[in-house]
Amino acid sequence: MPSSPAIELRHVTRRFGTVTAVDGLSLSVAAGEVFGLVGPDGAGKTTTLRMLTGLLDPTEGQVLVGGDEVSTHLDQVKDKIGYMAQRFGLYTDLTVEENMAFYADLFGVTGGDRDALMVRLLAMTRMAPFRTRPAGKLSGGMKQKLALMCTLLHHPRILFLDEPTNGVDPLSRRDFWVILDELVAQGLTLMVSTAYLDEAERCHRVGLLHHGRLIHCDSPAALKQLYGASTLEAAFVAAIERQAA
Ligand SMILES: Nc1ncnc2c1ncn2[C@@H]1O[C@H](COP(=O)(O)OP(=O)(O)OP(=O)(O)O)[C@@H](O)[C@H]1O
Ligand SMILES: [Mg+2]
Repeated sequence: MPSSPAIELRHVTRRFGTVTAVDGLSLSVAAGEVFGLVGPDGAGKTTTLRMLTGLLDPTEGQVLVGGDEVSTHLDQVKDKIGYMAQRFGLYTDLTVEENMAFYADLFGVTGGDRDALMVRLLAMTRMAPFRTRPAGKLSGGMKQKLALMCTLLHHPRILFLDEPTNGVDPLSRRDFWVILDELVAQGLTLMVSTAYLDEAERCHRVGLLHHGRLIHCDSPAALKQLYGASTLEAAFVAAIERQAA
């Protein structure tokens, strides 16, 4: 029997008063898949991720993660997921190591397990030389790497990242994706929202959101072919213009 999807949204709508942030969204992501959420500002990306991570309830529809419905099985879901929010909270006065220890405590990861994982994550992100530096003194790219490490301390199998490389220089962004690729090679499922279409190209499939609706969901190659575009950016501009027409 095929295993259930890692991530599934069934006819999900979320309203805030008169604003419909997410509108009848259905999609599923297989275990081990890298799924990109793209769309203009206000398209509903963060709202979708917040429903998937149990921070918001849907107004209508069902949200399932790892086969469990998020609204009724939040504790089980929380054990399986990591979430790096658009504005992830790092403590600027605490060092890299102290921030990691803080998040490990929060997740109940302690002792030798914690120490071994911290060493491994610092090596993987090449952040070991900076472990005693206060987070407030890190570059933008390093801050994002630290935030990523903090979301990985409880061994999540499914990772949600909301614009994790926003404002980070291209080289550091590439570095960040090398780390993500390594995590995916180890079996992680990844859903990532991004404004950078070179990053969307790295995803197995991309969902294009516009006014809370999923207007396309396919591989980068298929989306480019659909619009006869040489870049994903050109395909998305064409897709959004067609919606507006
Ligand atoms: N708590 C809230 N209360 C009222 N409206 C909200 C709330 N959260 C989101 N919205 C509205 O829902 C819509 C979708 O917002 P959301 O933050 O999900 O978009 P986004 O795609 O993440 O945008 P961005 O690229 O700017 O991060 C917007 O119109 C936003 O103003
Ligand atoms: Mg957002």
